[in-house]
Formats: sequence, structure tokens, C-alpha cells
Amino acid sequence: MPWVIGVTLAAGVALMPTLVGRDRNRVLYTLWAPVYDALVGAAGFTGARRRSIDRLELRAGDRVLLVGAGTGLDLDLLPAGVEVTAIDVTPAMLERLARRAARAGRPVSAEIQDARRLAFPDVSFDAVVLHLILAVMPQPELGMKEAARVLRPGGRIAIFDKFLRAGEQPSRARRLLNLVTRALFSDISRRLEPLLAGTGLVVECDEPGAIGGAYRSVMLSKPLVGERSRPPIRKTL
Ligand SMILES: C[S@@+](CC[C@H](N)C(=O)[O-])C[C@H]1O[C@@H](n2cnc3c(N)ncnc32)[C@H](O)[C@@H]1O
Repeated sequence: MPWVIGVTLAAGVALMPTLVGRDRNRVLYTLWAPVYDALVGAAGFTGARRRSIDRLELRAGDRVLLVGAGTGLDLDLLPAGVEVTAIDVTPAMLERLARRAARAGRPVSAEIQDARRLAFPDVSFDAVVLHLILAVMPQPELGMKEAARVLRPGGRIAIFDKFLRAGEQPSRARRLLNLVTRALFSDISRRLEPLLAGTGLVVECDEPGAIGGAYRSVMLSKPLVGERSRPPIRKTL
């Protein structure tokens, strides 16, 4: 495993200037794929993932979209009977997801798609899961708009990711570190609030998710037609 990490680090830095957006992520996550579960599994996010998904209050028959689904670490946490669609730009990640789904005997529709341009009609899903994707993908504001578009009115979006707190200024050290983390796997200086502008989505819940609040767990809802925006139920950050 150390050599995979080494190659990925070197490739990330070397490829940074030549590859942009989706293609860079595809190359990087192809390299990360063999060790992704071991690394991210060790981060201890399972509890936070579970709480995030539980807030969606999914019921059998609900249509759920996993955006940037990766190797499918969220799959086991979804209740039985929901209809799961998973998209990602990296075939190596989705192949692992497909194997995990087959082992669990869970039918999943897995498709290579870019989160910035989803190939689904409007109002296709009852819930959307955005776990560890908004800080990774290029143009996350487009990913957020697409999630809102394909969600039905009254539907919910679960976000678990690392964001700066509202009003927080990134330190110089963080800005420097971000040059490296962005090249290798993820941006660490993004804000959630600008991504929500103009989407019409309502923040229902915003809580520290993991690592002392560096990761946030946010639930959004799409108002029913004619419903006025409500204030958040809880807003702790
Ligand atoms: C940090 S992983 C998160 C995977 C999974 N959601 C999880 O929680 O473990 C980020 C994933 O986003 C995918 N990705 C990056 N850019 C994307 C894009 N523009 N559209 C769809 N998926 C993308 C990567 O291939 C990778 O599988």
C-alpha cells in the first residue's frame, strides 16, 4: 500500500498543471481506488455517514441518488428497499461499488456521469447524497444546482464534507496545505454557503460531522411548490 500512496502523491503533483477538473479527478481516483476503503474507512466516518443518511428518513421505494459515489461506502447504510442510483466519473471506483453491491445482494444502477451535468430528467429522485464530493469536484456550484434540479419538491439532500465555517478565513498554513491537498484528493478551503445561492434549497440541519467540526453534516430540503422557505431547525455552526 505505501507504494500506491507514493505513486498517487507523485502523480497528483506531476499531473496538476496538465490535467483539469474531471480528468484530473479521474486519474487521481483511479490511483486511489485500490486503497480508498482502507484509508477512508480508517478515518472513522461511518457514524457520521450513518447519521447523515438517517436524516433523510428514507422509506422502501424511495429513489436515492449517490453523487460521486466512489467505492460505495454509503451503500451498506441505506435501508433495504430503496432504489439506488450511483454516479461517478471514475470507472475504477464504480467497479468497486458494483462488486460491493453484488456481495450485499443490493441492486444498484451505477453510471459514469459528471456531477456537473447529470443525465437525469428534473425531479427524478426523492433524496440525493453528497458525501465527500463537493470539496473534490470542480465547479461544485454546478453540482449543487444539478442535485437540486433532479430532486423532487419535498425531497432532501444529505451533505457530509469539509468546509470552512461561515465567516472563517483560511489561515496561511491552510492555504499552503490546500495547494497540496487540492492536487491530490480534495480542496480544504471551500465554503458551502455560496454553493447554495440561487438553488432554492433550505438548510434543515447543519452540525459538526467529524474531526471537531472540520467536516460538516448538513441536510437540505427542496420546498414544495408554493411552500415558503422555513428557518433552519438547527444551525450549530
Ligand atoms: C472522496 S471520493 C468520495 C466517494 C464517496 N462519496 C464516499 O463518500 O466515500 C470523491 C469521488 O468523487 C468522484 N468525482 C470527482 N469529480 C467528480 C465529478 N465531476 N462528477 C462525479 N464524480 C466525481 C471521484 O471519482 C471519487 O470517486
